[in-house]
Amino acid sequence: MHDLTTQLTTCVIGLFWGDEGKGKIVDLLTEQADIVVRYNGGANAGHTVVVGGERFALHLVPSGALHAGKTGVIGPGVVLDPQVLLNEIDMLASRGISVLDRLKISTRCHLVMPYHQLEDRLSEAALSEEQRIGTTARGIGPCYADKVHRSTALRFCDLFQPAAFRQRLQRIVDSKNRFFQAIYHHTDTLHADEIARTYQEFAERLAPLAAETTCYLQDSLRNQRRLVFEGAHGTLLDIDHGTYPYVTSSSSSAVGVPAGAGVPPGAVQNFVGVVKAYTTRVGQGPFPTEQNNEIGERIRTQGHEFGTTTGRPRRCGWFDAFAGRYAAQLGGVRRLAVMHLDTLRGLSELKICIGYELDGRRLSSFPAEADVLEQITPIYETLPGWQDDLSSIRRYEQLPTVARNYIERLEQLMEVPVWIISVGPDRSQTIFRDT
Ligand code: GDP
Ligand code: IMO
Ligand code: MG
Repeated sequence: MHDLTTQLTTCVIGLFWGDEGKGKIVDLLTEQADIVVRYNGGANAGHTVVVGGERFALHLVPSGALHAGKTGVIGPGVVLDPQVLLNEIDMLASRGISVLDRLKISTRCHLVMPYHQLEDRLSEAALSEEQRIGTTARGIGPCYADKVHRSTALRFCDLFQPAAFRQRLQRIVDSKNRFFQAIYHHTDTLHADEIARTYQEFAERLAPLAAETTCYLQDSLRNQRRLVFEGAHGTLLDIDHGTYPYVTSSSSSAVGVPAGAGVPPGAVQNFVGVVKAYTTRVGQGPFPTEQNNEIGERIRTQGHEFGTTTGRPRRCGWFDAFAGRYAAQLGGVRRLAVMHLDTLRGLSELKICIGYELDGRRLSSFPAEADVLEQITPIYETLPGWQDDLSSIRRYEQLPTVARNYIERLEQLMEVPVWIISVGPDRSQTIFRDT
């Protein structure tokens, strides 16, 4: 039922503010693919895969790489934190999964450096509570800022020219030290020597993984190999299309795939949009359907809604079909995966947001301005809930009628068919549906 043989290329994309359950879906779909590709973001991503009760939290290693023999690619659009990647490779090895001989990292990736993490923390600390983005403090924004600035950036390929790397690093570190002192009154000095030594050690370990991934992916496409692209974050966190400025710094919607992976536009045939049966957000920013009350609390407890990367409690609320449809249409999403249906158990009624109202007028499109999103009133439709434990159901017809009605209403409002329904974190707790 979940045969992908007619779909050579599939992209898994989050439609909201991240943590939709992309890791689980990527893992499932990679079973029938050859290659799994990360193309955006960095170690700010936290993707969970649960296999036979064993839980893996991945930040940079593509989620599908848990399947033996599948190749993982880290594309040029990813910002690479070598320390996090090496820790993850070691963690997997200690649990019997070797990815060293089947991971390829684009030499074009930009490097996350210690001063990026420092700048992330300093810049957030300098802002008031409501101005703060609420970042993951992984240095992602400052790294992408340097990438765009160019003269202060370092790439993975630079590591393999140690003398030039050392020289360039000295100039960058000197300017960062001056900047941190002048702007943030931060007086601890960073030392280029120390950083260079550490990064040369990383280079030695990572050298065998450095690859020309763009050519590799072009060849793979030509040879009809099956590819899964793994989106990080979510469409509403996209730098261009999300709830700016409360977004991440990469193209985390479907439109980021060609640029970040290095494949032709149109190379991806099938976009799978991942949503939860409700909505969550972690960090600051507008969240129209947020339930800052006992309903939100109940969803957080039942769904274990705490961040995979930072452990922060996630904000929880009703499903927002208005925002979701905006995201699905932007991404040309063909199928939906609805996660956490089990989590809604025990709520007597469920609400779905079907539109936004501002000053008594219904909005015709998803607003660009964060302050407008803070002011709108969601328009809700109410559906009956269920008491049943859905976690061991494996066939769509076995779901209670009210749960099926809920799913079918979501797909109507989203205007995209629901293909996968998830009823628990484990790989096996999944219902595939004919669409
Ligand atoms: P990602 O960033 O989109 O990969 O999602 P995360 O891994 O950050 O967060 C999703 C969380 O929900 C993880 O803890 C998953 O193990 C868990 N999860 C995924 N699908 C389901 C589901 O259907 N039901 C329940 N209860 N948990 C799920
Ligand atoms: P995955 O891939 C949830 C959020 C942060 C913050 C904003 C900017 O696991 O779904 P950043 O550190 O990127 O500069 O933070 O974006 N954020 C995520 N929220 N899931 C993620 O990734 C996220 N990646 C970034 O909480 O609000
Ligand atoms: Mg996550």
